[in-house]
Amino acid sequence: MSKRIGVLTGGGDTPALNATLKGIALEAEELGYELIGFMEGWAGVLTGGSYVRLNPDMVDENRGGTLLQSSRTNLRASNKLGEAVDNLKKLKIDALIPIGGDDTLSVGSALSEHFTTTFVTKTIDNDVGINCPAEEALDYTKIVNYFCPGFPSAAHLVAKYVHDIRTTAYSHNRVIFVEAMGRYAGWLTLSAAYGGADLILIPEVTYNPDKMAEVIEKQYRDKGHLIIAVSEGISDANGDLLTESAELDSFGHARPGGCSEVIADHMKNRIPSLSSSVFRHQVLGYMQRCGSPIPIDRDTAIKAGRLAVSAVENGQVNHVSTIMRTGLGLEPHLLNLDQVLKRGEDGHVIRRDTDSRFYDAENFSISPAGIGYFRPIFGDIPRDHMGLGLDKTTIE
Ligand code: F6P
Repeated sequence: MSKRIGVLTGGGDTPALNATLKGIALEAEELGYELIGFMEGWAGVLTGGSYVRLNPDMVDENRGGTLLQSSRTNLRASNKLGEAVDNLKKLKIDALIPIGGDDTLSVGSALSEHFTTTFVTKTIDNDVGINCPAEEALDYTKIVNYFCPGFPSAAHLVAKYVHDIRTTAYSHNRVIFVEAMGRYAGWLTLSAAYGGADLILIPEVTYNPDKMAEVIEKQYRDKGHLIIAVSEGISDANGDLLTESAELDSFGHARPGGCSEVIADHMKNRIPSLSSSVFRHQVLGYMQRCGSPIPIDRDTAIKAGRLAVSAVENGQVNHVSTIMRTGLGLEPHLLNLDQVLKRGEDGHVIRRDTDSRFYDAENFSISPAGIGYFRPIFGDIPRDHMGLGLDKTTIE
């Protein structure tokens, strides 16, 4: 009897999605499964949705984005779970592997009550998983889903752009606010430390413009130019995003974006000693989701994909193929859905914030514990972006 697995990619794309698909395709072939790839996320399993037969040769693990394309389709909101289940059964799919972030997984977990489902995570925001409990001593091996595939590649890009933009900031004595994605969580913005960001502002910590202005003025006096990484999800003291689009996606999220400009304007007003032309901003936008995966991301994503298929083979459904830090490095690890997703009272998935131990809110910087978190991904912070200053002599 032919065994058939379905796979889909939902939510925002990442550079490592094809790597996960590659792992799934390789393992499926080895275990004798036929693999059906649904196009455009959950939209692909609905009536009128399309699908392809996938084999490993079709998938390039070094190419970013997703061969299967993606969408933010909320089957729950549209009461289409039943239709999806009927179609999956019609196509004689034995098990479905959704690859996604919190929204895809919350739809998937509702679907899993009616259909055999095993999950793989992805999101550049790195907000699917559970931190080592705050009341316990920090133990990196207790972080459930150490990183979400896709995050390391995006973090690498954020660090790269932050590093590169320094040459122009230095040349023109500018303060440049670089805006990273991360609607609710600051993981990506924190990775700017690896590009030598002078200050970092994450959404989990309340933005205080006066304090920020004070620190900027002081640091600018010492350095003559600054790179400040800010998360797109920065909100004001009332908890409202500094900027968001009026348009909501099917999960009800407004798209943030543009807060770097707002913060730059706040600073222009609060630091009159600096000309307003000193302040500039740069939104990284989709540039941080694009291109090829970095090797550690690609290789871990392939392994996570393979593990999801072997879980189906072993009957371990309603599980998530996660990444855990072990004595051996970063390895895929199968956990129950409930061990990976914390839920609110109404069943919605609670996203993982940046562990507060990884951020030094007083100094707007990564903490030593944060560097410990990134070490297995990037090693130590390179020092080469620090030394652009000159000892200048005044002409008398
Ligand atoms: O996947 C999450 C995310 O990367 C957020 O950080 C960001 O706000 C969002 O995607 C934007 O994606 P899109 O414009 O594709 O909806």
